[in-house]
Amino acid sequence: MSSTQQHWQQLYDSRRPEQLGWYQQSPDFSLSLFDEIGADPSLAVIDAGCGASMLVDSLIQQGYRNITLLDLSAAALETVKTRLGKNGNIPNYRTQDITLASFPARFDIWHDRAVFHFLTEAQDRKNYMATLARSLTAQGHAIIGTFSMTGPDSCSGLQVVQYDEARMNAELPDDLELLKSRPSTHITPSGKPQQYLYFIIRHKYAR
Ligand SMILES: C[S@@+](CC[C@H](N)C(=O)[O-])C[C@H]1O[C@@H](n2cnc3c(N)ncnc32)[C@H](O)[C@@H]1O
Repeated sequence: MSSTQQHWQQLYDSRRPEQLGWYQQSPDFSLSLFDEIGADPSLAVIDAGCGASMLVDSLIQQGYRNITLLDLSAAALETVKTRLGKNGNIPNYRTQDITLASFPARFDIWHDRAVFHFLTEAQDRKNYMATLARSLTAQGHAIIGTFSMTGPDSCSGLQVVQYDEARMNAELPDDLELLKSRPSTHITPSGKPQQYLYFIIRHKYAR
């Protein structure tokens, strides 16, 4: 197990989801972006670095059935599976590093909240984007939420990279384009505001 994986595994082993800074009772902003891209429940979705997020609960409630949940931490995925109860067998669970992942089928929606910004090594970001480009359907969209330039520069003891449109554009391979970005303020469970910027990305030649 890598030291990064150990870090996340220990976090989810030792704390309840609602004690973590990124906890959201309801992923309203992500869901509003699903609406903005015209998502519907027939689509294939991956929540990359899902942690114990409640996004999957909302998606299942809306009728989504093709859902992949990926995280470095098996403990986080176990928490989700247990919480989902009888719906726990709907998602496909993968304990994996997203920068090393490959998938048997493509996704129409790639969702990442607060994961890409932990990639401080250029090669990891390159691998992530290459995986995204080959894993997204031709008409698909990626929704990537990162800390913005006025957001924190670290999280849970790890350095992060803050993003604006120019920085995100610089990370995109030739075949992906940034459609738009949307700011959002997250209030942590201890009441601190954190500035995020969400990016909507798709294949450059998608129509
Ligand atoms: C700040 S949390 C956000 C969790 C979730 N997206 C949310 O919004 O609640 C970051 C998550 O990314 C996962 N993670 C970090 N680096 C990763 C990587 N390289 N591959 C897969 N997951 C990763 C961590 O285990 C953790 O669950």
